[in-house]
Amino acid sequence: MNVEKGYVDEPIQDGIDLREEILRLKRERNAVIMAHYYQREEIQQLADHIGDSLALAQLAAKTDAPVIVLCGVHFMGETAKILCPDKTVIVPDLSAGCSLADSCPADEFERFVNAHPGHTVISYVNTSAAVKAVTDVVVTSSNAKEIVGSLPEDEKIIFGPDRNLGNYINSITGRDMILWDGACHVHEKFSVQKLVDLKRQYPDAKVLVHPECPKPVRILADKVGSTQALLNYAVDSESKQFIVCTESGILIEMQRRCPDKTFIPAPPEDGTCACNECEYMKLITLEKLYNSLKYMAPEITVDPEIAKRAVKPIQRMLDISRDLGIIK
Ligand code: 13P
Ligand code: SF4
Repeated sequence: MNVEKGYVDEPIQDGIDLREEILRLKRERNAVIMAHYYQREEIQQLADHIGDSLALAQLAAKTDAPVIVLCGVHFMGETAKILCPDKTVIVPDLSAGCSLADSCPADEFERFVNAHPGHTVISYVNTSAAVKAVTDVVVTSSNAKEIVGSLPEDEKIIFGPDRNLGNYINSITGRDMILWDGACHVHEKFSVQKLVDLKRQYPDAKVLVHPECPKPVRILADKVGSTQALLNYAVDSESKQFIVCTESGILIEMQRRCPDKTFIPAPPEDGTCACNECEYMKLITLEKLYNSLKYMAPEITVDPEIAKRAVKPIQRMLDISRDLGIIK
């Protein structure tokens, strides 16, 4: 079996129905397929569960299935493996990385942490297992504000790696967290000018913005929130039009849940493309998903010593989120 490129690179028999075969293999392997909202439409359609980063971590922690196929990026697979060390966790293409996680190398982050003794370390889930291992509590964009707010007001905090999310939380909580200087290349590249033009073109549209976007984009928002929070807002809102400033995969679920509403993707700064995609998320294809179930590879592995330390801040996030009523 050839997995040199990060995925199983073996020929697929001509003429087979990939969707049917994936469902058949899934049953045979007793596997559960989980997909992030930014996945391709055909992957979302086949998944047993779709969700944002927090939901996927929670689902992984709860599932009874011995095999988890996580259609998302590498850190999501790692989080599932850390929570379920005895399960087989497969990400159909291990090279599905994350520019935000990559903006925070573990050795540099550890030096940063050591340079600030007496600080509680909060890390966004978009980090490697090694960064989580030097973290006190993990957060996602669905619970970051509440988890930071649950800490004593005088607690000194380091927040990494997303400077935009950190800056947003500082601004709404009045905290002065020390921020790691990282960012997501997708959420950073929305064009303020093109967004202003779209607002002019659709004056009744509500603007939905992910907190990984920089402040000049956030201040144009009617709603700033995690992928799940933006979806919930669109479902509950009486408005009929929405301009969406996050990865455009979420428009699939927004449109599915709200067939009578119009969703307009906000464009990036560069090029002529109307929407903003994460190329890492789109690396997962039906072919790779099929081969991953057929060959049960590539598997996510995490160094057991790192996993032992990294599980604590992830578990703490889930416990606090449950106590605060953010998850059940
Ligand atoms: P959420 O799923 O927490 O909204 O995060 C967005 C993201 O960029 C995932 O990689
Ligand atoms: Fe990472 Fe950004 Fe892609 Fe999310 S959208 S996986 S934060 S690069």
